[in-house]
Amino acid sequence: VSTFMHINGSTTIVGIFGAPITHTASPAMHNAAFAALEMNWAYLAFHVDPQNLRTALRGASHMGLVGINLTIPHKILALDGIDEIEPEARKLGAVNTVSMEKGKLRGYNTDGYGFIKAVKEDFNLSIKGKRVLVLGAGGAGHGIAVKCALDGAAKVIVANRTLARIEPIAREISGTKTEFLALKLAAEDIRKVIHEVDLVVNATSVGLEEHDSLGLGADLFSPRLHVYDTIYRPAETELLRVAESAGAKVAN
Ligand code: ATR
Repeated sequence: VSTFMHINGSTTIVGIFGAPITHTASPAMHNAAFAALEMNWAYLAFHVDPQNLRTALRGASHMGLVGINLTIPHKILALDGIDEIEPEARKLGAVNTVSMEKGKLRGYNTDGYGFIKAVKEDFNLSIKGKRVLVLGAGGAGHGIAVKCALDGAAKVIVANRTLARIEPIAREISGTKTEFLALKLAAEDIRKVIHEVDLVVNATSVGLEEHDSLGLGADLFSPRLHVYDTIYRPAETELLRVAESAGAKVAN
């Protein structure tokens, strides 16, 4: 609350565009950081529909905003509304941060970096040389799978309900030294590979709703596995509950 008491003519404004946007936790996080650092900055959330993204980004730039985060559905669309895209963001298939400097829009992806950092902090695990099973091939799955390959994973396996969605990920990873395998997201297929992975990542949206289930039983997991869920609300998904009951290390 105290952040907003200091807004004045020289406040630097940043924010996030999404649709929907009302549930975002980003303003709370960023404004708390600005307050703690005693920065005269403010972070606001804007509902921007997909067809207006380009105009909204230009407008924000003209209004002197210095940066915008993008969330669903803009992360992927933004690739063609921006002047310059950092090569890693292009490979990961998504832009989640746009900086605006002298009217020039530059797109970055901080999700990949954030994922690697989270796995390091939560599991003390470095991706280099590891074998990773990614569940899901949407925006999040694409970004995580490709980032693991870029960071030197020995093997990346992507399992998805819709096999065709794995193709662009396979194409991107084929340009790296990482071994790649595509799988159907089903317990019997997972069973064949789980013994040869170090880290399992849920990048599907399954787990957001209370009774959601990926259908993976405790018999698939073991204490040597690390299981990471990109879903952080609810704090414990069925996947993490089941994996933890089998002795696996879990985090979200
Ligand atoms: P995000 O940007 O969060 O990754 P997304 O691009 O819509 O969102 O991707 C959602 C992911 O969850 C996909 O991998 C999707 O699988 P499909 O490609 O087969 O749609 C997966 N997903 C969603 N609902 C699912 C379900 N009921 N069972 C299995 N996978 C599901």
